[in-house]
This record gives sequence, structure tokens and C-alpha cells, in this order.
Amino acid sequence: MSQVDDGHLPGLNPIMDGEHRVQLGLIDALCAAVEARAGSEEIGQILETLLEYSKTHFLSEELLMRLDSYEGFDEHVEDHAEMLDTLAAMVDTYRIGEKELIPGQTRKLLAFLIHHIETRDARYVSAPRI
Ligand SMILES: [Fe+2]
Ligand SMILES: [Fe+2]
Repeated sequence: MSQVDDGHLPGLNPIMDGEHRVQLGLIDALCAAVEARAGSEEIGQILETLLEYSKTHFLSEELLMRLDSYEGFDEHVEDHAEMLDTLAAMVDTYRIGEKELIPGQTRKLLAFLIHHIETRDARYVSAPRI
């Protein structure tokens, strides 16, 4: 059953909420595919789409934070980098067929992203603008 619903979107702003909805939907689809033991092609496609989408979304957030001279930029970007590293490692592992993804890995990623959106992203959106 899906764990992703709008309850995880703290109503940041319409563009960010829309991007988070897509990003969370992709991770949710990945969790479902891994748990259903879907074919490697399907899982690989979701993983690569999620990685590319996440890169684009994180970059757009980072540009906005730069424009706002946001003081929490560095710690926020560390979270983005950690998630991209994890995802890239999953893609690499999957591509070379070394081992299957396990549901715990993908659920952990989902929990990490939900936490990031509810804390760091929410903090950025509510930060005072000069
Ligand atoms: Fe975000
Ligand atoms: Fe973020």
C-alpha cells in the first residue's frame, strides 16, 4: 500500500509541492516494484527516472536558495548529495546485476526523502526573505 499522500507535503509552494509529488511518487513506485519483485528492466527504468528527476529538482532548489542567499544552504545541499549518492549507487549496483535491491533499502530512501521535505525543505520555504 502506498505511503505517499499529500499529508507528506507541508504546502511549501505550488511548484515545489508539484515536484515533491512527482519525486515521492517515483520512489513509491520503486518500492512497490521492488516489493512485487518486478522485472529488472522495469525497476531499472524507475530508478534511472528517479535519479534524473531528483538531480533536476535538487538543482532547481539549490538555485533558488542561492538567489535567496539562504543561510542553511550547505547543510541542505549535504542532504541532496547524500540522496543522489545513494541513488547513483543503487543504479550502478542494479546495472551490473550484482544483487537485487531489497525492499528495506527503498523504504529507507522514501523515509529519508519524506523527512527532508518535512524539515529542510519546509525550513527553507518558511525562512525570512530579505
Ligand atoms: Fe525538495
Ligand atoms: Fe531540498
